[in-house]
Amino acid sequence: MKRLFRRRTITDLQFEAHNDQKLHRVLGPLNLTMLGIGAIVGTGIFVLTGTVAAQNSGPAVVLSFLLAGIASVFAALCYSEFAALVPVSGSAYTYAYATLGEIFAWIIGWDLILEYAVGAITVAIGWSGYVVSFCSSIGIHIPPELSSARGTFVTLADGTQMAAIFNLPAIVIVFIVTTLLVVGIKESAAFNNVIVFVKLAVVLLFIVCAASAIKTANWHPFIPVNLGKFGQFGWSGITMGAGVVFFAYIGFDAVSTAAQEAKNPQRDMPIGIISSLLICTVLYILVSAIATGVMPYSELDVPDPIAKVADHAGMGLKVGGVSLMALLIKFGAIAGLSSVILVMLLGQSRVFYSMSRDGLLPPVICQVHPRFKTPWITSILTGAGVAFFAALLPVREAGSLCSIGTLLAFAIVCTSVLVLRIREPHHKRAFVTPFVWFVAPAGTLSALVLMASLPWPTWRRLIVWFLIGMIMYVVYSRRHSKLHHGMLAKAHLKNEGGSALK
Ligand code: ALA
Repeated sequence: MKRLFRRRTITDLQFEAHNDQKLHRVLGPLNLTMLGIGAIVGTGIFVLTGTVAAQNSGPAVVLSFLLAGIASVFAALCYSEFAALVPVSGSAYTYAYATLGEIFAWIIGWDLILEYAVGAITVAIGWSGYVVSFCSSIGIHIPPELSSARGTFVTLADGTQMAAIFNLPAIVIVFIVTTLLVVGIKESAAFNNVIVFVKLAVVLLFIVCAASAIKTANWHPFIPVNLGKFGQFGWSGITMGAGVVFFAYIGFDAVSTAAQEAKNPQRDMPIGIISSLLICTVLYILVSAIATGVMPYSELDVPDPIAKVADHAGMGLKVGGVSLMALLIKFGAIAGLSSVILVMLLGQSRVFYSMSRDGLLPPVICQVHPRFKTPWITSILTGAGVAFFAALLPVREAGSLCSIGTLLAFAIVCTSVLVLRIREPHHKRAFVTPFVWFVAPAGTLSALVLMASLPWPTWRRLIVWFLIGMIMYVVYSRRHSKLHHGMLAKAHLKNEGGSALK
């Protein structure tokens, strides 16, 4: 039993963060903030805003975004304290290793697959949908049997029906992003910066142009009366809506997985995490308020609500029957989703890298490419796995599964911050969570409340995933744990002879 709760020490982790120079330290505060925005702005704002307004909250979708945003800010503050204290690439996995012990670390590492890999699968499928729609608007028709989940019935151009073979565009985007991640963190960050610029420009254009078309009558009633079922409008609709739009905030924590690639992580990690989250929170509130102000909320339950609102607002300069603004928004969404996939895959490969270095996953995973200085094997394996599932699966529950996994990680990180403050108060913390006695429990509690608002099938999948993880731990990880075999100290001694101590 004692073995399950063995912990890595903070000093040991700081040593590792300071001396392991295998990965390239090239990211500054701007790149980190852009990585955060790159991961955050995606399906949530471009799709879920409409779904939640129409099904759960009405115009009060703004409050749903606010609630989910507040829960995320609590978690972001706790993540920032950890990321500055132990700037290593394992993120929540490593924080749990240092505070709660190996078994919790394993659970979180396993759980983060739900956030990053399942998140990337979900978004890659969404990306494919937007690409098909964009291409068809400009007269290019991608065969539906090659752009849908395997087995889905699709209608061909001649009216016949057939079962789809696989989702080719989803494979293509994962392949492109994986190649970038293998080639270099600097190249990946540069690509991300361009994409984030495009998607922010589109979102800002929407805010500025559509605001003048708001009809305040659309905001009344602001909180539509509950229809008799939990979650269908009224206050319960707002909380359930918060659980769903939480997906829109996922991603800021992925910044912390790039800690070992940051030039000055103690200072820049908190800047990247907190500023990306705050910028996105403001954008989300503005976009959802404008969307529900321009159109009646009941009309927003479409796959591309923001493009529809733009058209309705008269922003649609039309050329040959095609609305240019709707096209631009679809283009922004495609760009937006690409960077979400990029940062999710980046996060996943870094977490696997850390787990492998600790011996909980096979050692081949943590090999760093001699020239590119990236964890190339884990990047390729992660990309292949994500492409495989994205090619075959439909979206459906994947989004909620990603949310529940992330919320669990948030709850554990918020708890861990407090545990470490009590256990090891003496460490010098470059970033201190303000009002930690309020913020950390509030972060844990709000994550648990949002988890509770998710449907039972999502919980069932989480439990099954957890059980598979426990089997993996018993069969492989427990036996190969370097901490258990006292090999982590040796690894450091070896490092000292190498590039480490300069
Ligand atoms: N926050 C990301 C999105 O909304 C996951 O797509």
